[in-house]
Amino acid sequence: MSEIKFYKHEQIPMEMHKVKIVQQLHLLPADERLAKMKEAGFNTFQLHNGDIFMDMLTDSGVNAMSDNMQAAMMRADDAYAGSETFYRMQEKLEEIFGMKYCLPAHQGRACENILATRFVTPGKCVIMNYHFTTAKAHITRLGGHVEELVKDEGLISKSDLPFKGNIDLKKVEECIKKETPENIAFMRIESGTNLIGGQPISYENMKEVTDLAKKHGIVTVLDASLLQDNLYFIKVREESMKDKSIREITRMIADLFDIIYFSARKFGFARGGAILVRDEEMFHSMEDLVPMFEGFLTYGGMSVKEMEAMTVGFDESMEMDVISQGPQFIDYCVKALDEYGVPVITPGGGLGAHLDAMEICKHIPQEEYPAGALVCALYLCGGIRGMERGTLSEEREPDGSERFASMELVRLAFPRRVFTLSQTEYVIDRVKWLYDHRDLIGGLRFTHEPKTLRFFTGKLEATSDWPERLVKAYKEEFGEEG
Ligand code: F0G
Repeated sequence: MSEIKFYKHEQIPMEMHKVKIVQQLHLLPADERLAKMKEAGFNTFQLHNGDIFMDMLTDSGVNAMSDNMQAAMMRADDAYAGSETFYRMQEKLEEIFGMKYCLPAHQGRACENILATRFVTPGKCVIMNYHFTTAKAHITRLGGHVEELVKDEGLISKSDLPFKGNIDLKKVEECIKKETPENIAFMRIESGTNLIGGQPISYENMKEVTDLAKKHGIVTVLDASLLQDNLYFIKVREESMKDKSIREITRMIADLFDIIYFSARKFGFARGGAILVRDEEMFHSMEDLVPMFEGFLTYGGMSVKEMEAMTVGFDESMEMDVISQGPQFIDYCVKALDEYGVPVITPGGGLGAHLDAMEICKHIPQEEYPAGALVCALYLCGGIRGMERGTLSEEREPDGSERFASMELVRLAFPRRVFTLSQTEYVIDRVKWLYDHRDLIGGLRFTHEPKTLRFFTGKLEATSDWPERLVKAYKEEFGEEG
């Protein structure tokens, strides 16, 4: 990683790329944002992208491509079967991860469907450091259950621990004993643990837990969707790994697992996914599921253009100058907010900055969705779109009561190589303003509540005229157009 030093200026993160193609942005006036928010039913998933200034909903499928990725798209080989593009992609993945067999799929959750279909039967258990929504949904759909055994400190929002995604080995041992190894479908380790703030897991912890799994004959699976961030953190935070190259670290991690899968909407900066398998027999036991659910084995539902782009993206993910960008910008944002006193998840992880709505909106009861309200307020106050990761994203208990989330977060994702430092400063500035006016934020209630995945398609309304009062205060500060 190049260490560019400043002379008079404070040290700031530096974009290690230049802009080549742009998408024009528009900041709607505050009154219009209020109208759009109402139309969207106070659900940021329901907003139109054209009405958004800073889209920080996710990093999935919205990372910037490089010139080399786009150039590679031009040589994509379209064929139903035997596409040369697939063989190029497979060869690159084998070079990086050392796994011979590759099952392509259209995105990460499709990989999870295939893995769950192959390994999970009713009553089976899947051990994880932490769940991801779609991974868990496929396991429970098939009658399995998930044991989340992240160390307790992973769930504490303020911390200086470098690897909050680490799994608790003692809890794992107890779980294996309780469930018996035969009843454990597999162990899934998630790099860059998404739902607890993009927090990494150390190489040492991965080694210890996979050794334990091997001792008991349990299949080990790595979700590598956020591996790029995790690789960066291992390199800079894990003392014993600091002299290793990213390629070496990647291979050391891969060697610990039987199976690796990823969403190429994240890892590889394109759109797609794949499962890599070490063992030939295991590969054959899943290969029929690809043509059944995805497409033929040499495209798996992906566009060949995207496959060519991600093949270059995998190589770029092995470069510190590329993978350091996300974590450095996130760290800058998190530190600035933390210093101002805004409750945020610390230390900054990968994926995005996470605001602690439980703290910021203490005055809003959990049944009125504090994180849901905060994320809407942020759109009203700056055209910034984040994602609610709290009670709204949970499903109700079978008796209809709310299942309150253990954390109420607003995620501000940093898609890679997309936003500049001045845009990051704008976001910091608006969050500070909103924090100083947090008393103006009120609660939400459902007007249309779907039974499953309600956070995607549900519609809500404000419990009072707080959005109008918030917008009025905002306009007094920044003017009609701000
Ligand atoms: N695993 C992890 C760790 C993820 O973050 C995601 C997606 C998936 C699996 C599923 O992959 O979307 O390609 O089907 N995370 C997105 C997000 C949706 O916004 O964080 P997918």
